[in-house]
Amino acid sequence: MREIGAQQAQIEGNNSNGSGNGNGGDQFNDGGGMAGPPQGLIERLKDYGQEDAFALWDELSSDERELLVKDIENVDLSRIDRIIRCSLQSHALPAAAIEPVPESSVSTVEDRKLEDRERWWKMGMKAISEGKLAVLLLSGGQGTRLGSSDPKGCFNIGLPSGKSLFQLQAEKILRVQRLAALSQNEGSTDIVPIHWYIMTSPFTDDATRKFFESHKYFGLESDQVTFFQQGTIPCVSKDGRFIMETPCRVAKAPDGNGGVYSALKYSRLLDDMTMRGVKYLDCYGVDNALVRVADPTFLGYFIDKGVATAAKVVRKAYPQEKVGVFVRRGKGGPLAVVEYSELDSSLASAINQETGRLRFCWSNVCLHMFTVDFLNQVANGLEKDSIYHLAEKKIPSIHGYTMGYKLEQFIFDAFPYAPSMTLFEVLREEEFAPVKNANGSNYDTPDSARLLCLRLHTRWVVAAGGFLTHSVPLYSTGVEVSPLCSYAGENLEAICRGRTFHAPCEISY
Ligand code: UD1
Repeated sequence: MREIGAQQAQIEGNNSNGSGNGNGGDQFNDGGGMAGPPQGLIERLKDYGQEDAFALWDELSSDERELLVKDIENVDLSRIDRIIRCSLQSHALPAAAIEPVPESSVSTVEDRKLEDRERWWKMGMKAISEGKLAVLLLSGGQGTRLGSSDPKGCFNIGLPSGKSLFQLQAEKILRVQRLAALSQNEGSTDIVPIHWYIMTSPFTDDATRKFFESHKYFGLESDQVTFFQQGTIPCVSKDGRFIMETPCRVAKAPDGNGGVYSALKYSRLLDDMTMRGVKYLDCYGVDNALVRVADPTFLGYFIDKGVATAAKVVRKAYPQEKVGVFVRRGKGGPLAVVEYSELDSSLASAINQETGRLRFCWSNVCLHMFTVDFLNQVANGLEKDSIYHLAEKKIPSIHGYTMGYKLEQFIFDAFPYAPSMTLFEVLREEEFAPVKNANGSNYDTPDSARLLCLRLHTRWVVAAGGFLTHSVPLYSTGVEVSPLCSYAGENLEAICRGRTFHAPCEISY
């Protein structure tokens, strides 16, 4: 495993100059603890209206005072102040006008011919065998809705194999890199590893690394995996003041999955990619049990189109589905995503009178391809923007839970900067099994995701000439195909033809 060492010191609070805020150390070395609060730091906090952070100073022990000073010093106050002001102001403005995505921007499943698919698959395989693709997992989110304190990727959705989401993804990577080697040279054992960058946050980092170590990287080479942490950002009250989680610590939350751009920049991982010869990066969310990591077809399509970025989309299932939708910002404007939490409900259910379908029908499945060149541009551009989304949440504070804002950037905030972008439709029953809520909820649960996997794999096995018996109703069970045998339904005839499998079970080598 490659470790990106002290990178977090710089990302914490996204202290971009890496040197603290240059204040506050003035009364810090008196050896006998601090009597009064450091004046330089207090003045600086006052400049930004955040002096309340020191309100309980008199009640703190000397150790706690030290902790508080360090905590505030690690926040780049001018940057955070700019973000808070810009984000609160922009939140108060009416939402920008949006238009549906033009048809010409979407490659639909219907449009695609077999020869296109075969050509893209080959192009993708070639690029993978040349080491030009890396994948990046967004895994800094806290699985609050799932009701688990472990990183979401550790979650076992109850498949017959008991595999975690991390393991399913690792095995897909293993399979694709093997297929890529074979595609270039039948019988080849010369595998070029697909590098796996994994973004964690302070809330998921330690547990994620330990999970990978204890599972021996699921068969991957440990040095083909690089963990790095995203930044955190202070949570604020509605008037923009820091919320104190304890008397000596500001409440902080991860800066959203859009924090990936600055985290890549500060961890120097874009240079790392260039050094490895990586040209394309496939970024995806951790919680889709059917995610096609490193999909050669999508990569081949992306290379063929020569665009800076692309996203997989599925048709929205129903108006209130909790998915972001692709839109065009204004007439002739760039493609963008409006998150479900920010889409007006009348627009979410608006119908296109000609087609009878939803006007905003292309759902984001959180799987995006980027050129490394474009990522380099974005890493600088988004940061300057300073506009973060505000999520109103219960924040733990010294007064108990209090309503306040978490500030987040979204990975798709980069799309409007793209010189060119295209959308690639995939079938939800093949590629989208979200794991968002705990079992017992009505949708997107481990149970619903498991069933989607079992149904798809059962179809593959039957199509490959296999048979199924089952002692529970077939609609509630099925067979699981190990990603080590088949990535997308290929290669199953030799294993399945004429054989009968008793569901539920895993089909493996
Ligand atoms: C996300 C998408 C939404 C899409 C849906 C599909 C974003 C912002 N939203 O919504 O448009 O329709 O998935 O399932 O992408 N993460 C981090 N750091 C963070 C926050 C999140 O790495 O600070 C990661 C999560 O671990 C997860 C991914 O980003 O892998 C998506 O985050 P999540 O909060 O689950 O987004 P959704 O609300 O489900």
